[in-house]
Amino acid sequence: MDSFEFNKIAGATLGTCLFVMALGVFSDAIFARPHGGKAGYDLPGASDHGAAGGAAAAATAEPLPVLLAAADAKRGEGLVKPCAACHAFEKGGAAKVGPPLYGVVGHKVAGQTFAYSDALKGKGGEWTFDQLNAFITAPQTFAKGTKMAFGGEKDAKKRADILAYLRSLADTPAPLPAP
Ligand code: HEC
Repeated sequence: MDSFEFNKIAGATLGTCLFVMALGVFSDAIFARPHGGKAGYDLPGASDHGAAGGAAAAATAEPLPVLLAAADAKRGEGLVKPCAACHAFEKGGAAKVGPPLYGVVGHKVAGQTFAYSDALKGKGGEWTFDQLNAFITAPQTFAKGTKMAFGGEKDAKKRADILAYLRSLADTPAPLPAP
């Protein structure tokens, strides 16, 4: 190959390289996204649903004192219909399938005149909001072998309303835990 032919090949190669580079610069200019934004592309709908979804997730993760501060005893009264099949709520109420629940907040666990299961009797302590919350979430998880045949209320907000209602069933309602 003579030097003229070599120059032609080298020139063509160089030209191609320059062309590809220029193409890169141009396409960068055309498809560049503004800097400073967050990484990744916005998927359709992600921004408008993201906030609400996040809030809902945060709500379930909210600590009990915060939920209790926003809870409503009146709503809770409507939510204890399934409990009322087994429990009396009025003052001086008699035992039904389960023990009466007036004044249960702050009361000794399994502390009334009632044929409790060994599971609940073995628990000890008092019915704090936390304990009640755990029991109502999943009775069998809280006290394996409990006689309370209730599947559990899985909605944290509804539980808080139920607890607010149970709290109201007292001559002097127990103080709410500080959020
Ligand atoms: C199918 C009947 C039934 C249903 C429904 C039921 N319970 Fe009970 N509950 C019981 C029984 C029985 C016990 C005693 C459990 C034991 O001895 O293990 C009990 C115990 C309790 C206790 C402990 C009382 C104490 O004196 O220590 C609380 C608090 C309670 N239930 C709240 C509720 C709430 C709130 C609901 C509704 C969300 C509910 N229960 C639904 C039958 C029921």
